[in-house]
Amino acid sequence: MELPITISEVTIREHLPEIDVLMAGLHQSERELFDKTAPWPEIRANYLEHLIEMQEAYEGTCLIAYTEGKAIGFIFGYVEEQDNSRIEVYTGRELYISDGYVQPAYRRKGVYTRLNAAIEKKYVDAGVKRITRFTLVNNEPMKQFMADQGYQVTRVLFEKWL
Ligand SMILES: CC(C)(COP(=O)(O)OP(=O)(O)OC[C@H]1O[C@@H](n2cnc3c(N)ncnc32)[C@H](O)[C@@H]1OP(=O)(O)O)[C@@H](O)C(=O)NCCC(=O)NCCS
Repeated sequence: MELPITISEVTIREHLPEIDVLMAGLHQSERELFDKTAPWPEIRANYLEHLIEMQEAYEGTCLIAYTEGKAIGFIFGYVEEQDNSRIEVYTGRELYISDGYVQPAYRRKGVYTRLNAAIEKKYVDAGVKRITRFTLVNNEPMKQFMADQGYQVTRVLFEKWL
């Protein structure tokens, strides 16, 4: 059953405590999927600063889902600039969705689906025709979600750790 939620567009700078808790949860889940993910406390200050910069300088949008006044999930994306390294046919503005998370107790109730629909609509209405995002290769829920939403895998990142 769908959970009753309110989705609010927020300024990260003014909602740091809520974003911090949600980002900590996201990074914990990333660590469980990939052991080279740094602990959140080690990257916290820089990463929050990065999010603020992306929101303020690159038309970023942060949406938080609330139920009974509690922040239970969020999504963040921003516009990626095209430069001379572009190799695809599309020359317009792109939305890059960099972060998203829903607290475990509230999953499989359509929260992320509604957050994603809201952020995509905002940029699609503004003319964006390409949306990109990364996920870990073993993040099965996210891969299923993206397939359901019409995303296709176009590149695979290979890494070698020495
Ligand atoms: C991925 C995540 C954001 C999904 O949030 P959610 O609110 O539970 O998602 P929804 O309820 O809107 O689910 C939408 C669809 O995604 C897919 N999905 C979600 N969780 C899934 C799971 N555990 N297994 C398989 N498919 C899943 C399903 O297709 C689902 O539709 P359905 O419930 O009708 O089958 C959430 O599981 C999460 O926060 N995970 C940890 C953080 C994370 O991986 N973030 C993304 C990093 S790239």
